[in-house]
Amino acid sequence: MASSAKAAAPKSTATKKAAAPAAKKSTAGGNGKSTAGANSGKGAGSNAAVDIQPRLNQQQNAPSPTQRYGTVSQRLPIGLSEPTRRDSVTMLNQLLADTITLRDMYKKHHWQVVGPTFYQLHLLFDKHYEEQAVLVDAIAERIQILGGVAVAMAHDVAELSSIPRVPRDREEAPVQVSRLLDGHQRILKNCHDYADKVDEAGDDGTNDLIVSQLVRTNEMQVWFVAEHVVDSPLTQAE
Ligand SMILES: [Fe+2]
Repeated sequence: MASSAKAAAPKSTATKKAAAPAAKKSTAGGNGKSTAGANSGKGAGSNAAVDIQPRLNQQQNAPSPTQRYGTVSQRLPIGLSEPTRRDSVTMLNQLLADTITLRDMYKKHHWQVVGPTFYQLHLLFDKHYEEQAVLVDAIAERIQILGGVAVAMAHDVAELSSIPRVPRDREEAPVQVSRLLDGHQRILKNCHDYADKVDEAGDDGTNDLIVSQLVRTNEMQVWFVAEHVVDSPLTQAE
C-alpha cells in the first residue's frame, strides 16, 4: 500500500506541473484558483483553456476526517439521547462486523463447495450471501442514522468480528455447514441480548431492525443450512 502511494506521488506532481500553465492562463486575478467557469462563456473560437484536470491523490494530504470512528454525533433529530445512540451504535457495529464476515463466508463456500450436494449448496449459499448483503446495508445505514460511523473495510471487520477466522483452504461441505451454523448462532445470541437492551433504552428502530430483519433472516437460514447435515438415507429407509 505504502509503495503504491509512493509510486503514485511523482505522477501527481508531474500532472500538477503540466496543468499549472493552463490554470494560470484562465486566472485573471492570479489567486491560483481556476476561473474556467467564467471563461467558458466565451465564443467557440476562444483559446480560453478550461482546466479539466481532476484533483487526484487528495488522500495523501488529507485534512482531519469529517467524523472519527467511535464517535456519535447528534446531528439528526430522532428523539434519542446521546448515551442511547452510543450504546446502540456499539452493538450494531458488532453485528455489522459479524454479518459482513458471515456474508463473505457464504461466498467462499459458494465457490469452494464440492460433493453430491454441490448444485443445491452452491445455489443456496449464494442466495444466503445476497440476503446477508441486504442485512449488512440495513445495519450500516442504521448506524449512520444514529449518528455513528459504520465499520466497513475488511481489516477493521476482521479485528472486530467475533466469528473465528476461517482458513483459506477448501473444506468439506459438512465442515462448511458447521462453520456457517456457528456463525449464525453467534449473531443470533447477540441479537437476543441486544434486542432487550435497545428496547429498554427506547431505541425502537434498532429493536425492530434486530428482531424483524436480523433474527428472522438468520433463523430461516439456519433451518435451510442445518437440514443438510442430517444423516438421512438417500435411497432406502433404514
Ligand atoms: Fe457465483
